[in-house]
Amino acid sequence: ALSRVLRRRKRLAHLSSLQDAINLLRDSKRIIILSGAGISTSCGIPDFRSSTGLYAQLQDEGEYELDDPQQMFDIRYFRERPEVFYSFAKQIYPSNFFPSPCHRWIKLLEDRGQLLRNYTQNIDTLENLAGVTKVLQCHGSFSTASCLRCKTRVPGPTIEPYIMAQKVPYCGTCRETRDRGLEIRRARKEAAKKSKLKGKAKEWDSGSEEEDSDGSEWGGGEPGIIKPDITFFGQALDSEFDQCLFKDREEVDLLVIIGTSLKVAPVSEVLTHIPHSVPQIFINLTPVHHVQPDICLLGDADSIVTYLSTQLGWTIPPPSVVVH
Ligand code: OAD
Repeated sequence: ALSRVLRRRKRLAHLSSLQDAINLLRDSKRIIILSGAGISTSCGIPDFRSSTGLYAQLQDEGEYELDDPQQMFDIRYFRERPEVFYSFAKQIYPSNFFPSPCHRWIKLLEDRGQLLRNYTQNIDTLENLAGVTKVLQCHGSFSTASCLRCKTRVPGPTIEPYIMAQKVPYCGTCRETRDRGLEIRRARKEAAKKSKLKGKAKEWDSGSEEEDSDGSEWGGGEPGIIKPDITFFGQALDSEFDQCLFKDREEVDLLVIIGTSLKVAPVSEVLTHIPHSVPQIFINLTPVHHVQPDICLLGDADSIVTYLSTQLGWTIPPPSVVVH
C-alpha cells in the first residue's frame, strides 16, 4: 500500500499550485465534490468540530447533560432518551437558510456538465435548494422520517410540528396496528366465551386475561418512536452510498473536497476508494493532517470558489430572489 501511495505521489507531485487547481477544474469532466458542514457555515449553520461548532456549543451549554456531545446523534442514546434529541432538533431543523456561494458553485459545475456527483455529509438540504440534482445526502436528511419499530416512512413535514413543539412523535401505523390487534383479541375473546358456553372452547382462546388486556398480538408496549432519516452514529449509511461510489470510482477524473474535517467514516474513506491516479483538491478553513491531498487551498470556501471561478471566467449563479 505504501509503495502504491508513493508511486501516486510521484506521479502527481507536480500538482500543488492554485494554477494547477484552475487547470484541473477547467479540464475535468466528471468531478466528485465531497462536502461537509464548512460549506454551510456562511448560511448561519454551525459546523460540528470547530471551536464555535455544534459540539463545542453542546459541551459549553451543558443543558442536555450529555457525557459526550456526539451522544446527541447516537442511535443507542436516542432509543433510550428520544426527548433529549427532540428538545434540541429545532436548532438544526433546516428552515430559513439559503444556499451559500459554495452550494451555487456546485450547481454551476452541474450546469456546465462537469459534476459527476456531490457526496454531501450535510443534512440541511441546501444542495437541493440550490438546484443541484446529482447529490447524495450521505447522512440522510429531515426530508423523511421513519418509525424505529415498524419502519414505516413518513414525509419529513409530518413531524415538523413535533420538532417545533419539542415533542417526541410516535408512530400512527404502530398505534393503528395495536388498536386493530386489541380489537381482534377482544372479538376472539368474546367469541371464545360464547363457544365455551357451548362447550367448544378452542386453543387460541386460552390466553390469560393479562395477555388480552395488553394486546399480545402486538407484543405490548408503546408505538415506535419516529426518527428523522438522518444517519446517527451506530447506524449504517443507506446502501445507495456504496452503489454510487462503486459506479463513480470508475468514472471520476477529479475529487474536490470542501469544508469537512474528514473525521467520520465511511464518507472520509471515499478518498481511499477512488483510484490513486485521480487528483484531489482540498478546500478548507483549517488543515486536516491525516490526509495528503494533491492541492490544498486553505481559507474560506466561498471566497476560494469565487476566486477560482473568476480566474476561469465562470459566473456563479446569483442567489434566488426570495419574495416574502
Ligand atoms: P466538521 O465540523 O467536522 O468539519 C467542518 C470543517 O469545515 C472544519 O475542518 C472547518 O475548519 C471547516 N470550515 C468551517 N467553516 C468553513 C468555511 N467557511 N470555509 C471552509 N471551511 C470551513 O464537519 P463535517 O466534516 O461535515 O455526522 O462532519 C462530518 C459529520 O460529523 C457530520 O455529517 C455529522 C458529524 O458528526 C453525523 O451527525 C452523523
